[in-house]
Parts: sequence; structure tokens; C-alpha cells
Amino acid sequence: MVVTEYAHLLPAYQSQAALGNDERVAWIRSDRWLETAQAKSALMRLEDLLSYPPRDRMPCLLLYGDTGMGKTKIIRKFLRDHAASFDRASGVTTMPVVAMQMPAEPVERDIYGELLNAMGAPGPASEAAFRLKGVCRSLMRSMSVRMLIIDEIHAMLTGTFRQQRIFLNVIRFLANDLRVPLVCAGTDLARQALLTDPQLAERFEAFHLERWSNDQKLAQLLSSLACILPLREPSQLGAAAIRRRVLDLTEGVTVRIFRLMETVATDAIRSGRECITPESFDRDDLVLPLVAMRRHAERQLTRRVGR
Ligand SMILES: Nc1ncnc2c1ncn2[C@@H]1O[C@H](COP(=O)(O)OP(=O)(O)OP(=O)(O)O)[C@@H](O)[C@H]1O
Ligand SMILES: [Mg+2]
Repeated sequence: MVVTEYAHLLPAYQSQAALGNDERVAWIRSDRWLETAQAKSALMRLEDLLSYPPRDRMPCLLLYGDTGMGKTKIIRKFLRDHAASFDRASGVTTMPVVAMQMPAEPVERDIYGELLNAMGAPGPASEAAFRLKGVCRSLMRSMSVRMLIIDEIHAMLTGTFRQQRIFLNVIRFLANDLRVPLVCAGTDLARQALLTDPQLAERFEAFHLERWSNDQKLAQLLSSLACILPLREPSQLGAAAIRRRVLDLTEGVTVRIFRLMETVATDAIRSGRECITPESFDRDDLVLPLVAMRRHAERQLTRRVGR
């Protein structure tokens, strides 16, 4: 009979646990994708939009949520699932999904410049906006683009009132003329700004990435982490006390949860304890990984001391 070592981990991750400390810490700190319940629903919504046949008024989607909730991660995953391909025979590149970032300033010409960049065709910066607009439109057609995603649309709020109106006009043009679904991602402030335009408010369906709360979804996230983090002993991540502590320290923000778990896992390796327990979160030397989290913990402490 083969005795499986590290049976608390998924089979594909068991060999990781045998690696040395530094290698395991490096693995914990590397980028990875974890399909959370909300991320899965958002991806399904995006898939659904991508399958829409072209028609005059394409549906649009606004993916919104607080900073660090995983909007960009979802977009990147969707892009990986629908990567561009190059056909050697015809010399044609097909790009089903184009994702661009908002330029630093919401200036019309820069927006089209960014769009060209995202399609791998940086345009001459000196071109007038209306020329760039035409180039974007024909390039999208020739590359068979079926969806346009604009991330960080809250950057429009850095513009003057006039620039913001112009930006909303550009969004309206993209939504109306391209005949592809338009997906915008940003914070709640961006959602409010978008809603100031009645026509856009009609067109956009909203998908809210909600902060984590003490429920089954959080339990599921923690138990998936328990199955992949390369610790040699089983952790008690299913414990209700841990769920509460994690929520206390992170206020339910995805990036903070990931950073916190990475920190306690690293600590478990370095200290030789090899597992995460409720006490892992109470250690004095637990350096909270994000400035925002440290501030929150300090506020909690002041409140407790003040009581
Ligand atoms: N599904 C996920 N799998 C793994 N890590 C994730 C996931 N979602 C979020 N994260 C972690 O949270 C971090 C922040 O996520 P992301 O950059 O997508 O947030 P955002 O919502 O785009 O924030 P912002 O509004 O500031 O741009 C990521 O770098 C990653 O470490
Ligand atoms: Mg982002």
C-alpha cells in the first residue's frame, strides 16, 4: 500500500510540500489564480456576453467593486481563456477579446491610443482623435474582435467635468458603433459616474463583486487554500474562529485575505509549526502585510483600549 504523504493537500500540490522552506515561501508568494465563487459567476457572465451575435444594441456590463476585490484578476483570466491567435497561412491575427486600461487622463485621443496599443498596433500619437477612432474601428473588424474590456474606468474621475463628459461620449460611441459588448471595470464611484449618463445607465448591466462575509463562500475559499498551501501538517482553516478573525483583519477585501493567508502560511513554514491555527492570527510578530490592514487593526486596538 502506498502511504500518501501530505494527504491534506490536493494530489497535484503534495510534492510542493516536500520542497525546502525558501522554495515553498517563493511558491506561496507567486501569482496564482483561484476560482472563487464570485469570480466564477463573473466569468460565466462574460462568457455569456461573448456568445452574443452582433446586433444593433449590444448588451454592456459593468464589473464593479472596491479596490482589491479581484476585477483585474478576473479580466486577465478571461483574456487567457480567449487569447489572440495568429494564422500563419493567412497572416491574420484574431483577437476575440481586447482589454485596455484607461489612460492616465481621460483624453479622447489617449483612449483610442490605448485601444490601439491593446490590439498591438500603437498609433501615431499626433493623429487627430477622429482619425484614430476610424483606425480602431477597422482594426477591430479585421481582427474579429468580439468584446472590448476597459479596466480602471474610475481613472475618468481624475479628469475635469468636461473631460468626464467627453469620456462618457467615447464610451457611448464604443457601445453603439462597434457592435461588440463593452465591459467596463472599476470602483463604485465609477459606477455612479457612468450612471449620470441616462443612455449608458440603460445599456449597462451591473455585476457587483461584494466583500466577503462569514458564509459558505468564505469557508470554501479558506478550505481551497488549505488544500494548496504547501504546509506539511493539516491546518484548521475550516474553524469558525479563523473565519471571524480573517474577516476582522481584512474587512472582507479579497487582496487582503490573500495577503494575510500568505503571511500566516509563510510564518508557519519559517517557525517550523507547519500549519495554520487560530493562534497564528494572534501572534504579536504577525506583520500585517498591507498598509490598509495595519490601519484597520490599529483602529480596532484603539477601540478596544478605549472601551
Ligand atoms: N481569483 C483570485 N485568485 C488569486 N488571487 C486573487 C484573486 N482575486 C484577487 N486576488 C489577489 O488580489 C489582488 C488584487 O486583485 P485585483 O488587482 O484584480 O483587484 P482590483 O479589483 O482590480 O483592484 P483595483 O480596483 O485596485 O484595480 C491580486 O493581485 C491577487 O493577489
Ligand atoms: Mg484593477
